[in-house]
Amino acid sequence: MYNFAIAFHKAVVANSLEPNFVYSPVSVWLILAGIAEGADSVTRQQIFNLLNVPNDECTRQKYYQLTTSRIVQTDDVKIISNRILLLDAGVTPNQTWYDIVMKNNLIEVLTAPIKHDPAVTAEEIKRLMHAELPRLNFDGNSVILDTIDYNALWTTEFVEANIERSPFHDQFGNPAGFVDLMKVTKRARVGYVKSLKAKVMELPVGENEHYRICFAMFPESNDIIADFGILTVDIVFEIFESLKDSFDPVEVAIPRMVMSSEIDVRSLIEYLGVTSLWNNPAATRNVSNPPALPSSFVQRATMTFGNQGLHSPPPAPAGIYGTPTGLDYKIDNAFIADRPFLYALYDAETYTVIMASAFIEPTYMN
Ligand SMILES: *[C@@H]1O[C@H](CO)[C@@H](O)[C@H](O)[C@H]1NC(C)=O
Ligand SMILES: *[C@@H]1O[C@H](CO)[C@@H](O)[C@H](O)[C@H]1NC(C)=O
Repeated sequence: MYNFAIAFHKAVVANSLEPNFVYSPVSVWLILAGIAEGADSVTRQQIFNLLNVPNDECTRQKYYQLTTSRIVQTDDVKIISNRILLLDAGVTPNQTWYDIVMKNNLIEVLTAPIKHDPAVTAEEIKRLMHAELPRLNFDGNSVILDTIDYNALWTTEFVEANIERSPFHDQFGNPAGFVDLMKVTKRARVGYVKSLKAKVMELPVGENEHYRICFAMFPESNDIIADFGILTVDIVFEIFESLKDSFDPVEVAIPRMVMSSEIDVRSLIEYLGVTSLWNNPAATRNVSNPPALPSSFVQRATMTFGNQGLHSPPPAPAGIYGTPTGLDYKIDNAFIADRPFLYALYDAETYTVIMASAFIEPTYMN
């Protein structure tokens, strides 16, 4: 999963038009798995290689169950993922394939008058996805739509936060604008990752701590996206190993924000080697009749970090602040995100990355 997430991250970065972005590797993984289940042997192998899933069907289904069960709703964490193959009204899904993707919760199949009334279809998709989607293309007889919305964190993390309009810096440390920082003092896991020269902090999310978010800042870098580009699976494990429980509460400040990105997944997936899916009818003959030829694959991801959440949590116990943490000397008792940072949301059991993001430009520019 990390091999895929890292490859996908690099493709996002190489193609990103905006400085700030958020995306979900896991939903792309699930959708591609669903398509692969009905693909011809060449396309299927291209996709399975990219996703690192085994050829054995039973093992594969276990992977699917494990992965889809990462995205669950709890009282105070809401992650809504919609993964849709939208077929033209004249296209019938193959029943065998449909049963596999439904049973494994990989992808939903809907129909719309794509050929007959593309304008109405486009409007309907924009409404469904809450997105602008300028890159939607209806040359084929289907499109793949992926939306994911995260809302929660600060119900439990930042409910008592003081919010202050504060300066935000660019990567050189120059003032770039302002953000609304949510500040709290709390126990967190912090660390220093030597190979990335990154300061990292992990916060549990939600009362049952089903999820975690790891933030990374790069105080010694003036191009964090490029410096993060050396990421490998080994470095991912170095990040997790660097995290230590702080002995004393840490002063945490994270911008309040709503981030939303629309990503042209098709071009990224082509860049990663899945090339025959889009216009070779032989590739998807077992997905539908006539074969589905998806002309677009788009994702809209939204991450909401506010100090208000879904439920009122019990107040967090206040801590004393000001004593050394006894951690790496590069770590002080603070994680103040007042310059560009990256973060990822993952589940606490398998560490599967559900969403990842870069926050480079402040909310209010100078
Ligand atoms: C469709 O499925 C059948 C039976 O599993 C298989 O023999 C055939 O190669 C598949 N065709 C394509 C185009 O994938
Ligand atoms: C549906 O797909 C299966 C393979 O999953 C294949 O054996 C079967 O022939 C396909 N059915 C049709 C009507 O194409």
